[in-house]
Amino acid sequence: MIFGSSSIFIIFIAAIQTAYTSSLEHDGSLFVKLEHYLDENNEPVERGNISVQSIRIGQTQVYQNILNPQQSQMLRNLASSNSFYQIRAIANGKPYISSVKACMLAEAELDDRLSISLDYAGRVVAVSQIIASKSSCEGATVPLDKLKYFTTNVYVRHAEMGPIPDTASYIQRIEREREAKERGEGKDNRSLFAKYWMYIIPVVVVLVISSATNVENGGAGAAN
Ligand SMILES: *[C@@H]1O[C@H](CO)[C@@H](O)[C@H](O)[C@H]1NC(C)=O
Repeated sequence: MIFGSSSIFIIFIAAIQTAYTSSLEHDGSLFVKLEHYLDENNEPVERGNISVQSIRIGQTQVYQNILNPQQSQMLRNLASSNSFYQIRAIANGKPYISSVKACMLAEAELDDRLSISLDYAGRVVAVSQIIASKSSCEGATVPLDKLKYFTTNVYVRHAEMGPIPDTASYIQRIEREREAKERGEGKDNRSLFAKYWMYIIPVVVVLVISSATNVENGGAGAAN
């Protein structure tokens, strides 16, 4: 009976493990269009695109436009007004917005990182921008020709899988427990008092105290 239900449980765990493995085996490619906002009137312009050739190993190719002098100036204006620089990444028709302080990007001289986060099935859940280098918005005026070329590293991040059940050792443990039960091992052969003394003693103490008090009270009552 016990063995029957644990077998079903083991089969269930094995099925989960198979599902995990097959989703990891699935590879694919991904195309991400990159846009950014260089002024405050909310019109995104094209920044470039990312091809992820292999989702599994995170192999990517990045194409980015060179900023023209006017765009470099716009970016510098965003930085000097302490505004945010925002990107809009479009993957599978869905936009993913991410922003950083424009002064950080400017002082890092357009050196940034993009992280593409995927869920367990390889679907995009976020595209976020991180400024890589020691940028801290010190108020430095960056020359415009340093605000032309993005040098971007792209990271593909996979969802945390969580602990995958270790089926083999789980089965072994169940088997060992079952055998131990059959041999009568692991049974607690201590006496009731040895097992529960920590509960019994306080109760006894309380009983003794209260009965002592009752005797005193009773004695006083009898004297009246
Ligand atoms: C990706 O960007 C490059 C460089 O800007 C461009 O030549 C190419 O056409 C773009 N690809 C797509 C599919 O938009």
